Amino acid sequence: MGKPKCCFCSLLRLVVVIVWLFSVLVMKLASVRKLELEFGRVAVVTGGNKGIGLEVCRQLAGNSGITVILTARDEARGAAAVEKLREQGLSNVVFHQLDIGDAPSIARLAEFLKTRFEKLDILVNNAAFGGVEYIHGPEQRSQTSEEELFRNEELKQELNDIDNLTSERLDDLLNMFLKDFEDNVVEARGWPMAFSAYKVAKAAINAYSRILARRYPMLRINCAHPGYVKTDMTIKSGLLTPDEGGSRVVAVALLPEGSTTGAFFEDFKESSFI
Ligand SMILES: NC(=O)c1ccc[n+]([C@@H]2O[C@H](COP(=O)([O-])OP(=O)(O)OC[C@H]3O[C@@H](n4cnc5c(N)ncnc54)[C@H](OP(=O)(O)O)[C@@H]3O)[C@@H](O)[C@H]2O)c1
Repeated sequence: MGKPKCCFCSLLRLVVVIVWLFSVLVMKLASVRKLELEFGRVAVVTGGNKGIGLEVCRQLAGNSGITVILTARDEARGAAAVEKLREQGLSNVVFHQLDIGDAPSIARLAEFLKTRFEKLDILVNNAAFGGVEYIHGPEQRSQTSEEELFRNEELKQELNDIDNLTSERLDDLLNMFLKDFEDNVVEARGWPMAFSAYKVAKAAINAYSRILARRYPMLRINCAHPGYVKTDMTIKSGLLTPDEGGSRVVAVALLPEGSTTGAFFEDFKESSFI
């Protein structure tokens, strides 16, 4: 037979647990508040060493209350870009190496964010490369949403059917494209023709962003078209300056809490994916 339980002891134990939980919560809130005061919001920009990415870093850093992590795959180019921004009086920019195609590099950045800031408020997924070498120059027109350039109606509909599209199906579609590319049937299957790998990759990342937006409704996950911008990617043939292109991206990155998610923005306005 066990000893009868003492009501007072049980009550005391409960009070101790509640006080302990309360103090943990207070400490956590104090640490969040301290981080908030020290760094403000923390923003990561990929491919921040030049072009639109560098402009996005400059404009975000000019916004008081944001610490910008300018990332670049090349340490020297990234450090030089941070130096350039610091010379313009923007001291709230920090460099960290990131190659978006290299898993260990991504893990190192995640660890850095966790230990140094314990959070990430804004991610501008900007880095990309065209994957082509120009011989005559790029297409002389502004491209709108990349899905518009798909000629295969079934594919277009599938990418736009966001309630049923899954990341596994998106992987299948990308594998299908790679196979068609190798088999030289890109045109016959209705994939985009000029710059096809670039356009298919962009359509896939737009669709994946929408899947993520649906999966994480508490976050705001949107896509932004910067316009046709004079950068190295367009061999400076665009219609907008990097400053103008960057401002279209920054406007979306700074959308207020509670605003739209899973949307596509073009020229500062919400537009359709297809
Ligand atoms: N320019 C336009 O008209 C236009 C139109 C529509 C969309 N966009 C999009 O806007 C974004 C910026 O383009 P941009 O015109 O500014 O091009 P950009 O001047 O060529 O800059 C591209 C940036 O991405 C970086 N990058 C490439 N591969 C990377 C990798 N594996 N890991 C990390 N960084 C990498 C480059 O770094 P390195 O210096 O090391 O190469 C560079 O910093 C891209 O997503 C592009 O598709 C541009």
